[in-house]
Amino acid sequence: MILTDGHFNRLTKFILERSGNIISVQNKTILEMKLVALLDELMIENIDEIMYKIHLGDEYIEKKIIETITIHETRWFRDRTFSKLLNDVLMPKWVEMLRESSYKSVNIWSSASSSGQEIYSTIILINEYLDTNNITDIKLNRFHFYASDLSNSVLNRAKNGIYSKYEISRGCKAPIVEKYFDEKDGGYVFKEKFRFKVCFEQQNLLEPIKFGMKFDYVMCRYVLIYFERDTKLEVLENISDKIKPGGGLMLGGSEMYLQYAKLFDKVNIGVGNYYVKK
Ligand SMILES: C[S@@+](CC[C@H](N)C(=O)[O-])C[C@H]1O[C@@H](n2cnc3c(N)ncnc32)[C@H](O)[C@@H]1O
Repeated sequence: MILTDGHFNRLTKFILERSGNIISVQNKTILEMKLVALLDELMIENIDEIMYKIHLGDEYIEKKIIETITIHETRWFRDRTFSKLLNDVLMPKWVEMLRESSYKSVNIWSSASSSGQEIYSTIILINEYLDTNNITDIKLNRFHFYASDLSNSVLNRAKNGIYSKYEISRGCKAPIVEKYFDEKDGGYVFKEKFRFKVCFEQQNLLEPIKFGMKFDYVMCRYVLIYFERDTKLEVLENISDKIKPGGGLMLGGSEMYLQYAKLFDKVNIGVGNYYVKK
């Protein structure tokens, strides 16, 4: 299928407005390939029919398109900064905070969670930290986990917690697999007792945040890279409002934006940076 310039412009404008994701002309072929698969799946004859349904405001088709074009790439324990930050900086601080009786819980949010690897990796790291440091006075249930994504289909995958062998091989070592997963149908399922600790919510980061609480730590990784400059700042302001003063924000490894300086202080931890809410 070849998209005409008219279709491409209308479609990318729609995608930008709904999800913040920019699709450049260089990615036109990828968009066409994804649309071919979508037409097949929906048994729709041609792109005109899709455009017409968008024009009519067909919510199902609109959601399908956004889910098809967004990039859900993720893996376990992504980036060295991720583990180092939790183990060396945040956990020692949080354990001390939680030992003060007034501090009830540490709230953690994976704000573009994709299929769950990010929030489940966080649970594993925290649980491992408590176990390996023989910390028995602070239990895992003092940590509250939240995860959201624009896409319902990846959120459902995250809730089910079922991963193929290939997905598990992308970052999970054997002892971790043994301790945190059960084998199921040739793949692995993240153990229920850990999986049920996460509260999942569909959330478009361009819209008001649905979670009512404030967070100690938010991950917003590998999603802002797809947004325009102004959208990035808008989303970051939105998220910043939900972080407690002194709370942390983690971005993807390649994401560094000077314009965040008014919201966050950048802290270098050797292998990378994280941001502290002012
Ligand atoms: C590349 S994945 C990154 C997943 C994970 N954060 C990581 O770093 O491994 C980006 C995720 O952002 C989600 N996303 C894209 N636009 C979004 C938006 N406007 N609001 C919320 N999530 C969005 C996509 O559905 C996708 O699952």
